[in-house]
Amino acid sequence: MSNDPQQIGKNFRGHARQKVWTALPDPLLTEVTPGKPCGEFFRRFWLPIALTEQIKELPLRIRVLGEDLVLFREKLGQLGLVHLHCCHRNMSLEFGIIEEGGIRCSYHGWKYALDGTILETPCEPPASQVRFKTCLGAYPVVEYKGIVFTYMGPNELCPPFPFMDTFDEEGDIMIPYLIESPCNWLQVMENAWDPYHVVYLHTKAVRTQFIDAFAEMPKIQFHERAYGDFYTNTRRVRDIIWIRIHDLFLPSFTQNGGHFPVPDQSRYFGRCGLSRWVTPIDDTRTMVIAWRHFREGDDPKGLTDPNGVGLGRTDFYGQSGDRDYETRQKDPGDYDAWVSQGPINIHERENLAFTDRGVAKVRRKLRNVLQQLTEDMNVQRPSDIFANPIPTYGGDTMLNIPVQSGRDDAAIQKIVALRVAEIYQSGDHLTGKQRKEFVVKELKDYEQSWINENIN
Ligand code: FES
Ligand SMILES: [Fe+2]
Repeated sequence: MSNDPQQIGKNFRGHARQKVWTALPDPLLTEVTPGKPCGEFFRRFWLPIALTEQIKELPLRIRVLGEDLVLFREKLGQLGLVHLHCCHRNMSLEFGIIEEGGIRCSYHGWKYALDGTILETPCEPPASQVRFKTCLGAYPVVEYKGIVFTYMGPNELCPPFPFMDTFDEEGDIMIPYLIESPCNWLQVMENAWDPYHVVYLHTKAVRTQFIDAFAEMPKIQFHERAYGDFYTNTRRVRDIIWIRIHDLFLPSFTQNGGHFPVPDQSRYFGRCGLSRWVTPIDDTRTMVIAWRHFREGDDPKGLTDPNGVGLGRTDFYGQSGDRDYETRQKDPGDYDAWVSQGPINIHERENLAFTDRGVAKVRRKLRNVLQQLTEDMNVQRPSDIFANPIPTYGGDTMLNIPVQSGRDDAAIQKIVALRVAEIYQSGDHLTGKQRKEFVVKELKDYEQSWINENIN
C-alpha cells in the first residue's frame, strides 16, 4: 500500500457505496403477515407449526405467519389451534383451561370447541344469544410422526394433506426437529437451493463439516416437474458418478440427499436424509421444521445421531445458534450464513453470479406465483397434480461409470445426470415397492449399458 499522502484513499469506495445502507427488502417475497401476497400464498398449504413434544398439559402459545395462536390438546386427545385472544374481551387463551372438547377462557368462562364455536358463556344470562353471533378463529390440525401441521387459508381452498412418498417407508425411522432462526423465511429456504455453498462453507472454508467429497465443484442441472422442481448435483469420485438430488415444492418444502453418504460403490435410488419445511413465524423470525430420516445403510461411517435430533437441535453441524460466538466465527454453519444476512435479506445489495442460478430461479418462480395470486387468488398445490403419495426424488444415486478414455468427463457426468433424472420421473405412475423396484432396475440397466458400450 502506498504511503504517499496523495494516494491514500484513492481506491476505497465506502462512501460511493453507501447507498447499500438505504436499500430496502423486497416486500412481495418476504412479507407473510395476513393480507400480504406471500402470506396468502403460505396460507394455501398445509404447514408444520410445532412438534408434538411441545404440547403438554398447558396451552402452547405460538406465532405463525404473524398470527398469535394457541395450540392445545383437549382432554380426549384431539388437538386444537385457535387465535390467541378470546373473542369476548381478548384475554389470552394461553391462560385458558383445557377441557374435554375444547378450551375455556379463564376471564369469564367462555368455552370454545376445536373449530372455534362458542359452546358456553357461563356468566351471561341463560337467554343470551351472543354465542351464536360470533366465534373464535380456529384452524384445522393434522398430527403426524411428531409434527403438528395446520392449514390457515380459506376453507373452500383447503387441499388434501400432501402425503409424500418419503413419509412412510419401511425401515425408515423419522425423527422430527424444530429450530428457530431470527431472520426472514426466504433466506433460510434459499440455502437449500444454493448447492454451491456446500463446497465452500461446509468443506473448504474451515474444515469438512460433512464429507470430503463435497469439496469438488458439482455439475448442477435444474429440472422442472408438473409441480415442484428438483436439481441434480453431480460429482465424480474415482469410478463412481454420484448424482445427488434435491427436491423443492414451493413455498418451502425441500428434501436433500443423505448427510454423510459414502460414494464408493453403486447405490440406486437412495432416499432423502431430510424432509424440511421453512415456516415463517413472522417477517423476521422463522422455524425450520423437519424430519431426519434414519435408514440402515444410509450412514456407513456412523456419523449420524438420532439422539441429537429434537426440539432446538439436530445432528448435523451449524443448524442453530447454540454454539458460542467465537466458535460460530471460527467455524460458521448454515445458521450463521442465513441469520447474518440480516433480519430480512436485502436483495438489492446482492450481486448474484453464475452459481446463484438456483436462488435466482426460486425467486423468479415465487414472484410469478405471487403475481398470479394477487390476480385470481388461486394457486396450484401438489395435490392438484399428484395423488397421494406424492412422488419425490431427494436422495443419492451412485453409478459405477469409470472415466471414458478420450471423452470429456464433465460432459459424461451431465449426460448421466440427465438420464438419471429421466429415470426417476419415469416411475411417477407407480407407488411404493413397485416404483422402487422399477427405478432401481432402470438405473441398473443404464449403468450396465455403459459397461456394454465399453465391451463392444
Ligand atoms: S375475555 Fe374471555 S371470557 Fe371474557
Ligand atoms: Fe448448508
